[in-house]
Amino acid sequence: MSTDAFRLNLDPDAFDPNSLQIGFPSMSGKADPVRDPHAIAHAISLADLDLSLGRGAARVHVLRGISLDVAKGEAVGLVGPSGSGKSTLLMVMAGLERPDSGSIVVEGTDLGRLDEDALARFRGRRIGIVFQAFHLVPTMTALENVALPLELADKPDAHARAKAELEAVGLGHRLHHYPAQLSGGEQQRVAIARAIAPDPAILVADEPTGNLDEATGRQIVDLLFALKRDRGATLVLVTHDPGLARLCDRTVSLRSGRVEAALAA
Ligand SMILES: Nc1ncnc2c1ncn2[C@@H]1O[C@H](COP(=O)(O)OP(=O)(O)OP(=O)(O)O)[C@@H](O)[C@H]1O
Ligand SMILES: [Mg+2]
Repeated sequence: MSTDAFRLNLDPDAFDPNSLQIGFPSMSGKADPVRDPHAIAHAISLADLDLSLGRGAARVHVLRGISLDVAKGEAVGLVGPSGSGKSTLLMVMAGLERPDSGSIVVEGTDLGRLDEDALARFRGRRIGIVFQAFHLVPTMTALENVALPLELADKPDAHARAKAELEAVGLGHRLHHYPAQLSGGEQQRVAIARAIAPDPAILVADEPTGNLDEATGRQIVDLLFALKRDRGATLVLVTHDPGLARLCDRTVSLRSGRVEAALAA
């Protein structure tokens, strides 16, 4: 590739989110030619993140000097042993947990500069989140849970869109069930439909296939990757599933709160 062609790809306006030439230094075997974070259209840029949680004897230094860039339209699999800090890192990326030090820039916005209200608005507009524990609203039906972020974002036809998203995750027959009336895998699929429905630029998901049988898991993976392929969304997926990790453009391995290795898939 000529230098000019490469430069073209660095112009944020010309950047094709589906062209994944940025962010994969090891794929070409060469050093990453560009390290200037301002020149690259990163979806997420984390620098020197440190975070401790808990008090007294329960205090844990969870994230230790994490630096990580995720390109727009990239799918990153976040792997590592239980307790290594994956869920915490996801929360920090999504602006739900503030680090003790370090910076988080998401889609060009420095989250550290936003107050809580601005941060919540930013999240609502740009980021879809699938939590490990789903976090569905217990007093709302599946349909109402999925429609909620659409209503908050003033999207027209919130209920019709929510219904279509629930059908896409195979839950067209459970629209009016409350979370407590759904199985674990069904709740997980409601959480995924809710995260996907507003068409987020970035989707972070904590073990999105963790509670699903193989066929349903494949269906969910197809939906997540369709978001990436068709809408240029950036995916960060925590997973213990080697099959799902392989589908990602890159896996990042955490160990004891540090990035252990970043490997091209
Ligand atoms: N609020 C908290 N107070 C104290 N320690 C915490 C808190 N939250 C998380 N931790 C600790 O931080 C470490 C990382 O937790 P985290 O949930 O990020 O791990 P994980 O990699 O997602 O693990 P798993 O694969 O089991 O979900 C764990 O050892 C956990 O006990
Ligand atoms: Mg976790």
